[in-house]
This record gives sequence, structure tokens and C-alpha cells, in this order.
Amino acid sequence: MKKILVTGGCGYIGSHTIVDLVQNGFDVVCADNYSRSNEAMLKGVEKIIGKKIKSYKVDLCNYDDTFAIFQENPDINGIIHFAAYKAVGESVAQPLMYFENNLYSLINILKCTEEFKVPHFVFSSSCTVYGNPDAIPVTEDTPQKPAESPYGATKQMGEQIVADTVKSGSLKAILLRYFNPVGAHPSINIGELPIGKPANLVPAITQTAIGKLPMMNVFGFDYDTRDGSCIRDYIHVCDIAHAHTLALLYLIAEKNSTNCEVFNLGTGDGYTVLEAIAAFEKVSGVKLNYQLSPRRPGDVVAIYANNNKAKNQLGWIPMLNLTDMMGTAWKWELKMKTEENLFK
Ligand code: WQD
Repeated sequence: MKKILVTGGCGYIGSHTIVDLVQNGFDVVCADNYSRSNEAMLKGVEKIIGKKIKSYKVDLCNYDDTFAIFQENPDINGIIHFAAYKAVGESVAQPLMYFENNLYSLINILKCTEEFKVPHFVFSSSCTVYGNPDAIPVTEDTPQKPAESPYGATKQMGEQIVADTVKSGSLKAILLRYFNPVGAHPSINIGELPIGKPANLVPAITQTAIGKLPMMNVFGFDYDTRDGSCIRDYIHVCDIAHAHTLALLYLIAEKNSTNCEVFNLGTGDGYTVLEAIAAFEKVSGVKLNYQLSPRRPGDVVAIYANNNKAKNQLGWIPMLNLTDMMGTAWKWELKMKTEENLFK
């Protein structure tokens, strides 16, 4: 079995990806410093896959500690690098913390791939690299606008760092640009664990619906869209996870045409915020308490993916729809309420 190092493996997308990798025959090692995640998430992963996952509590900004993982696992055949801070608002308030954490960790990991001749690398990127696109849907060739936040800038810079590292050596890489990952694993053993007041839409919806938040805001209702609220391409986290497995299989099978390829991971369908709320109310039976509020600075008006490249080259087909996304997100919120000590 090929061994894959998943950094940020206790995080939202990382944990779902470990499940998909193991269920597709990979051996997985996890590295996480738990600064934005919860080690207990690995218990949920192990419940689903029925086996233990070797995990290292490590700050990837510390080169020696990062190097030690590779020394102990010289047979690492690939890396999926999720570990990064990802809160847009926080990045605006603390840009240097974002540049330091997201770029130092990436550089250390890449230095180790060179030291240990790791052949395959998958980088967790984001549709945020497109900024406010002139035309939608966006393809992988859509020109990148200036990032709307330091978080988005770390993704643009991260892609450049990976691309330049690939050019200088033998590493083969894939950059995966996620649109809006939402939902939870159907087993409801793992899901999204926002820290503090959720910035993202779907956890804000489910926390309001369950009463953890008294009300939520719809940021902007006067945009030039069909109902005035922003349009996004919501994609189930399990579909995102499976794309990582397919990306590794693609590199291992040497199907890549260049040594650093980019893929959009979105459904190709755009939904407005109000449509997403309506989908949640329909699947949960809960009437959501929200108010129409002023626009949120930095928000992109509308973006959704042209996902033909991932479909045609990776063989990736998103299987889950908006109802599945809202349904699993709601079941996960209900579970966290009944098992409150689960992630204390
Ligand atoms: C979606 C829409 C909000 C909360 C960012 C990053 C992206 C990824 C996901 C990391 C917007 C509206 C939200 C609320 C609202 N980050 N909204 N009320 O900003 O599209 O993407 O997070 O993986 O890289 O760029 O996601 O969920 O914050 O917002 O009306 O309480 O929901 O204004 O239109 P976003 P989001």
C-alpha cells in the first residue's frame, strides 16, 4: 500500500480525505498541530474506517519536527497538504500570522519532499485565487485577479511556490481549487468543526437553526444576482475528498501531461445565499431566523466552476447535491448537540 502523508488531517477536509484514501487502499499518516482542529476528529475517522491512523502532533513551521516525520516514514509516496489557516476575516486582521503560518509550513513540507525524494504532492488551494472574476463559470485558465484577502494571497503564493518547486526538481504536483466545501460524512462520525462564531455560511445556518446562534445575517441582498444575494458553488466535502484520491491515482499512473496541473473542484452549479437557506429549510423542516444585512467587505458577488477538466482528466464526478449537503450538515449539527462532550 502506498503511504500518504496528510497534513491538517484532523481538519474538516483533511479528515474526510483520510477516510476516502484508506477506503481506496492507501496507507495514511496524519500530521496536525490541532491549532484549528480537534484530535478527536481522528476518532471519528477511525470509527468509519475501522483502523487506527498514525498521527503526529507537529507544527509544520518547525523544520526539524517536520523533517522527523519523514525520517520515521521514509516510504512516504505522496503528500496532501491541507494544513493552513483559512479564515478570510482573521487574515485581514492578522496578515503576518497568515503569511508566516501558511507559507512557512508549505516551504518546510516542500523542502522535505526534496530531501526524501517524495514523488507526488497535492496542494489544497481555493477558488479564492480567482478574486472577483469578470466571467463565470471560471475555468482553470481564468486569469487570477488580486486576492480579496491575505488568506487568498497565501493560496495564490502557495500555488506559485509549488509550481516553481516542481520546475526545479522531480516532484509532480496537482493544485486543487475548492469552491465552497460544505456538508458532513453520511455516517455523521465526522463533519465541520468551526472554532468560535462561524464565518462560513453553512455552519452559520445550522448553528442558528439549532439555537446556538439567535439569528444569522444574509450579507448583501442588493447584488446584481437573481435574488440580490451572492452566488457560490457549494460542493459536498465527500466529493472534494474523493477528488484528492483521484488526483494521487492520476499522478501515480503518470497520466499527468505537465508536472503541475490545476483542477477546479465545484459542481458547476451556482446557488444564491437565499436559495441555500431555502434548501436547508426544506431538508431540515426548520424555519431559519435570518435578517437581510449590509454586504460583507471582500465578498465575491458570484462565482461557480467550470469543472470539465477534473471530470475529463481525473474522472471526477460530484455525486452529492445541495439537499445532501444541507441534510448531512444538519444531521452533524444535531449530533454535536446530543454528544456535546464529543469535541470538548
Ligand atoms: C459564502 C456566502 C457570504 C456567512 C471562503 C473562502 C474560501 C473557503 C470558504 C476555506 C457569501 C454569505 C456567509 C453568513 C452570509 N475558505 N454568508 N451569512 O466567503 O465564499 O469562501 O470560505 O476553505 O476559500 O474564500 O464562504 O461561507 O463565508 O460565504 O450571508 O453568516 O455566504 O456573504 O456570500 P466564501 P462563506
